[in-house]
Amino acid sequence: MPPAMDFIYKSMQANRTDRDLEFWMRSMRTAKGAPLADENKTAELDAGVSSRIILTRDPENIKAILTGQFSDYGKGESFHRDWREFLGDSIFVTDGEQWSASRHLIRPMFVRDRLVDTEIFEKHVQHLIPLLAGENGNKVVDVTSLFFRYTLDAATNYLLGDGTDSLQNPETEFAEAFRYVQRRQAQFFRLGVFKFMLSRTEFRRQLKVMDDFIKPYIDRVIAMSPAELDQKHSKSDTFLHALARFTKDRRILRDQLVAVLLAGRDTTAATLSFCLFELARNPEITAKLREEIASRLGVGASAQKPSYADLKEMKYLNAVLNESMRLYPVVPFNVRFSLKDTTLPRGGGPDGLSPVAVKAGSRIVYSTMIMQRSPENYDPPSAPNYFDPAQWKPERWVSGWQPKPWQFIPFNGGPRICIGQQFAMIEMGYTVVRILQAFESVRAVPEIGKSVVEDPRLRFEVTLTPASELNCVFVRDGEGAEHEKVVVS
Ligand code: HEM
Repeated sequence: MPPAMDFIYKSMQANRTDRDLEFWMRSMRTAKGAPLADENKTAELDAGVSSRIILTRDPENIKAILTGQFSDYGKGESFHRDWREFLGDSIFVTDGEQWSASRHLIRPMFVRDRLVDTEIFEKHVQHLIPLLAGENGNKVVDVTSLFFRYTLDAATNYLLGDGTDSLQNPETEFAEAFRYVQRRQAQFFRLGVFKFMLSRTEFRRQLKVMDDFIKPYIDRVIAMSPAELDQKHSKSDTFLHALARFTKDRRILRDQLVAVLLAGRDTTAATLSFCLFELARNPEITAKLREEIASRLGVGASAQKPSYADLKEMKYLNAVLNESMRLYPVVPFNVRFSLKDTTLPRGGGPDGLSPVAVKAGSRIVYSTMIMQRSPENYDPPSAPNYFDPAQWKPERWVSGWQPKPWQFIPFNGGPRICIGQQFAMIEMGYTVVRILQAFESVRAVPEIGKSVVEDPRLRFEVTLTPASELNCVFVRDGEGAEHEKVVVS
């Protein structure tokens, strides 16, 4: 098999068996790197394709790509072309002027004044909580599908005004179409130059289902006069209204909506899923977090809702969220193309510490996940307050440890840093607090057919998602004794 086909085949196979992380770590170890370096932090992949592919987990290189040499690297025209049917010319897939105009257009929707309003999260978390308690006498719930429905409802509510309400109606056609399109897009991307081998018929049909769902909302804002749109500057103002004040171009409205939905929905859903599962298998950490919540806001029926300031100031809550994003960064791998002949600061020379020349059109694959899990970026085991980087340990964040600059970047960094970072932190913090105010504890339960709770298996699609069931039992105050009787069917 030619090397390119062989590499793509192996990467597809790793993906099918949820072993992407192992595959990419092995690819990095066995790729061509500096001859005297103990272990490659930056290496050249021989995938047998004409353009060069460099893999890196070196924070210095990642920093250069994302900030110091920002204008030398971008998403690139081929990425834009590959994603165009799905995301058009939106913020996610463009560079330069086009990207900057999108960022400018979207920014007003993420200012602090908007983020302090947590009513949308409250509305949907109140639909979520009864479902976490289990249904039809079965107390075991797989949290992932519930969080994906929850964040879809919250995001569509925020963007469009009405939500999909998929927690109440799980068979939402839009949700299914959106999931299919993302999965297929990830397959096209993985196949690279061989993507023509996959049919686009179903992809296009599902894209149409998505677009048909969004169209009436766009029709409505397009029909509004500027005066009506201005009057909308109120509580019922949505992302779409704000966009429509700047443009009535149907295609721009559609593309930016879909891009923000893609960026904002799965990311928070997956982080919440990993976070709640880790809380469920670490009861002492859940108890400590619940203590912080209880002392600041109370728990049970008389508990106060958390404000923006509460969520910012709760140290242990933020430690739990940051630790979840350290171990499970939902954008685990990312790619940039060199837009001109340029360099990377490290990876060259016999010890890998000299710059490397990078020709225009090269592809740099950088991995936040491998970097954030690499022992070399942490104190050695002999250090006081040592916490194993491979383990989920929120305590590290409250023990005096801080990540070094550019060694913890779940939201990326530089001019293209996630624009929804604050929105995400508020949404996730609000959700965790309300859940732990409603439930006394959470317990992890093995997957069906297994006898012990295992580490979550990881699936890499457009973003990182759990590939295994994340089964939990949520216990209300006073139910503790009863939940001991829960058996997995
Ligand atoms: C745990 C939650 C989240 C994580 C870890 C995350 C992470 C990221 C990362 C790594 C990027 C950079 C992608 C790249 O440049 O290739 C990004 C970009 C972006 N994110 Fe987030 N994100 C999260 C939630 C959100 C939310 C809730 C929203 C919106 C509601 C959002 C909107 C965006 C947008 C619009 C971009 C594109 C920014 C640009 O290219 O200038 N994200 N995010």
